[in-house]
Amino acid sequence: MGLNRFSLPAMAVIMMINAMLLSQGCLEEERIALLQIKTSFAEYPNRKPNQLSYWGKDALCCSWEGVTCSNSTTRRVVEIDLSYARYWYSSMGDWHLNASLFLPFQELKVLDLAGNGIAGCVANEGFERLSRLAKLEVLYLGYNNFNNSILSSLEGLSSLKYLYLCGNQLQGSINMKGPSKLNKLETLDLSYNNFNNSILSSLDGLSSLKYLHLDGNQLEGSINMKEFDSLSNLEELSLAGNKIQDFIALTGYEGPPRLNKLESLDLSYNKINDSTLSFFKGFSSLKHLHLRNQLDGSIDTKGLCEFKP
Ligand SMILES: *[C@@H]1O[C@H](CO)[C@@H](O)[C@H](O)[C@H]1NC(C)=O
Ligand SMILES: *[C@@H]1O[C@H](CO)[C@@H](O)[C@H](O)[C@H]1NC(C)=O
Ligand SMILES: *[C@@H]1O[C@H](CO)[C@@H](O)[C@H](O)[C@H]1NC(C)=O
Ligand SMILES: *[C@@H]1O[C@H](CO)[C@@H](O)[C@H](O)[C@H]1NC(C)=O
Ligand SMILES: *[C@@H]1O[C@H](CO)[C@@H](O)[C@H](O)[C@H]1NC(C)=O
Repeated sequence: MGLNRFSLPAMAVIMMINAMLLSQGCLEEERIALLQIKTSFAEYPNRKPNQLSYWGKDALCCSWEGVTCSNSTTRRVVEIDLSYARYWYSSMGDWHLNASLFLPFQELKVLDLAGNGIAGCVANEGFERLSRLAKLEVLYLGYNNFNNSILSSLEGLSSLKYLYLCGNQLQGSINMKGPSKLNKLETLDLSYNNFNNSILSSLDGLSSLKYLHLDGNQLEGSINMKEFDSLSNLEELSLAGNKIQDFIALTGYEGPPRLNKLESLDLSYNKINDSTLSFFKGFSSLKHLHLRNQLDGSIDTKGLCEFKP
């Protein structure tokens, strides 16, 4: 054998370096794609350092801030946190994202793009491209400038379980054409947009929804219980900070019980009064009912927007 006792320490060092590379390294293809993302997010040279600033200083991209890799020996990127990664002012105008930049991450499970002033995607490179990422479960798009045109590009992301669109420019209702492919979606956060009462019935393709947040929108007056007919699996419904006065059920309704899995209902900061409270006795599974402050109907807690799974 060529091994002598003097080369053992050297071998140990080499093995340690190898182990380190294995644990922090990543696929060449994914590292290059991360650097492309960095380039596209870092258009403004004088910005404050953030998670992107140190990307590329070494090749061990699984240790880069905001990047999480799987624990398997293949070390694929499973999570990318780009929240507030782009330096921008509202006066800088619309910014459009190239969603295809994320296609190399075939094992990606969580993508956080919150707070980057994104108005939409570049032509033909929208979120519909991400339907090829079969493991994508969590998409944070909160606090951007998306309008309703974002919605059709998300319809095909059939692996999604959690979708956060709070704090954008969405309005009216969602126009879902035909049955939605989002049939695994459990959590939908549409808080702090400009949706009106029509939003509830327009969610009828999303029958797997368990958690729905619509805080700080334009829902008002009487909410007809039939709006909830397709949302029979809801466990948590948050409607705080709207102008809701009461809930009504048409007399003579004999269909299946509505919202009979609902455990938590938040109606704080609305216009509910004592005379309508008896209605809530109808929610047989309700454990938590929040009715704080029904006086002015305004809510200023924007920070509540994202509730992470
Ligand atoms: C990897 O394993 C560690 C320790 O068991 C765990 O804390 C971490 O969540 C795992 N990461 C992933 C992405 O599974
Ligand atoms: C979007 O990104 C992909 C992948 O990097 C690239 O091939 C494509 O040319 C880009 N499209 C535009 C319009 O920049
Ligand atoms: C919605 O956003 C897209 C992408 O930025 C833009 O092209 C479109 O004009 C916007 N639509 C409206 C009604 O503002
Ligand atoms: C909600 O907004 C949509 C589109 O903006 C409109 O067509 C609809 O009539 C509105 N619904 C209610 C109940 O105001
Ligand atoms: C309570 O709310 C109901 C339904 O919105 C309304 O008809 C009634 O006038 C309200 N009562 C008071 C005292 O404001």
